[in-house]
Amino acid sequence: AMAASKYNLIGVIDCGTNTVGFSVYQTPEFTELCSHKMEIIQITPQDGWCEQNPLEIMTNIRICAEEACKKLEKLGYKLSEIATIGITNQRETTIVWDKLTGEPLYNAILWSDIRTDITVDRILAKLPDQNKNHFKDISGLPISPYSSALKLRWLKDNIPAVRKACRDRRCYAGTVDTWIIWNLTGAVDGGLHITDVTNASRTLLMNIDTLHWDPVLTRAFSIHPNMLPQIRSSSEIYGKVKDGSVLNGIYISGILGNQQASLLGQMCFKPGQAKNTYRSGCFLLCNTGEQPVLSSHGLVTTVAYKLGKDSPTIYALEGAVAVGGSALKWLKNSLGLLKSEDEVEDLSNAVHSTGDVYFVPAFTGLYAPYWRKDARGTICGLTQFTNKNHLIRATLEAICFQTRDIIECMNQDCGFTLNKLHADGILSANKLLMQLQADITGIPVLRSQMEDTTALGIAMCAAHAEGINSCELLPEKRYYENARYDTYLPTSTHSEREIRYTKWKKAVQRSLGWAIT
Ligand code: G3P
Repeated sequence: AMAASKYNLIGVIDCGTNTVGFSVYQTPEFTELCSHKMEIIQITPQDGWCEQNPLEIMTNIRICAEEACKKLEKLGYKLSEIATIGITNQRETTIVWDKLTGEPLYNAILWSDIRTDITVDRILAKLPDQNKNHFKDISGLPISPYSSALKLRWLKDNIPAVRKACRDRRCYAGTVDTWIIWNLTGAVDGGLHITDVTNASRTLLMNIDTLHWDPVLTRAFSIHPNMLPQIRSSSEIYGKVKDGSVLNGIYISGILGNQQASLLGQMCFKPGQAKNTYRSGCFLLCNTGEQPVLSSHGLVTTVAYKLGKDSPTIYALEGAVAVGGSALKWLKNSLGLLKSEDEVEDLSNAVHSTGDVYFVPAFTGLYAPYWRKDARGTICGLTQFTNKNHLIRATLEAICFQTRDIIECMNQDCGFTLNKLHADGILSANKLLMQLQADITGIPVLRSQMEDTTALGIAMCAAHAEGINSCELLPEKRYYENARYDTYLPTSTHSEREIRYTKWKKAVQRSLGWAIT
């Protein structure tokens, strides 16, 4: 399957939480030639529940592909120049369908959905130590509503159609990558039922050492392995599109969870390199090399990538900030302090500090290192002189302090100190945020000049696959060392940083326990 060198374009399907998109990259420079994006409807039947329609996901992907391909042809390229496609996706989100009819058996249950809170308690009650870290050694993950295993278990327990399809051995399950690929490669006519190691590492069903579904885990969650996809590397030719769409006949050769894709797009190939993606939440991943590092500070161990069947498995430690940019949205929509989020930087710059105001946006509790469901939002240090600009600036700082909390955990778990942080995501366009991040952590922040590191990462991954060979992510090629960044250097002194960080921690203490009645 050797592709000729004129096939130098790479297609990318990016299926995120809020938008899906199709874009086309040109190798070897990896410039984006065109793209088309669409929103996905978020279905919220009740508080804490969050779903999407799997059929809409497929329809929108196909529309995006068609529109992007039209743009490509207008630019003078032929569709036949697309060598291969890579797929990157929101992780943990879980879909079940009937493999004989292709019909979804329920809506996709989103990663952020917390309906399985009770399922978690029920599973914990059955364990001898009732410890949420009971399976952490095997899976890298705590038992929490985020992982796909809990969502699958909930579907089996609560949806009769799912139970019946399982009994009749007609039920297929998967994360979003799996659903997309099954549909693109023929669906009921022999669609591939596969996933990659990065997505599988988020399910709480895969053994992070063997990279296979683990019998202890599948038994604990009562998931029959016959409904699970085959686990493959992130970069290999899996098959061809066979759905009659514009993409028909094109190879698929890359799959990565979206946070892992941006780690690659940020060129974090070496152990100790880390990136933070600043969006409604923030996801910080640090490459730990060929060894999975188990956290004793509440971070998650995950597969970063495996760029080929016989390539080494590279691991990462991950920590998440639950409320990042969404706190700014709250200032705008719920408090009316902002007309538009574009004002954030100017208004924050209108004051020189927060005036000693600290805002802990623990709207839904706090993640690592606190892991407190009972924390709630707290604003400390208000005076007569506090104005809205102080609060807006304190919100930016909250994003930075929460990021520092995670970096502190990483440093302790890894045994080395992060000496720089790569930044991307829509909020990283805010220069003050980037400067505050450098000042609060004391390390340089490198903002990627590539607009979309997630799409770039999966484009590189798909292009790298054996048989495609449009790009070599090997050390000797090093083309990626040309990546460009805007660098923000810390301007704070060590003692300034520590005084302020200590104060942040005091504010966090005040937020803990508030939800206990
Ligand atoms: O784990 C969830 C993560 O993959 C979601 O990413 O950027 O689509 O919200 P995003």
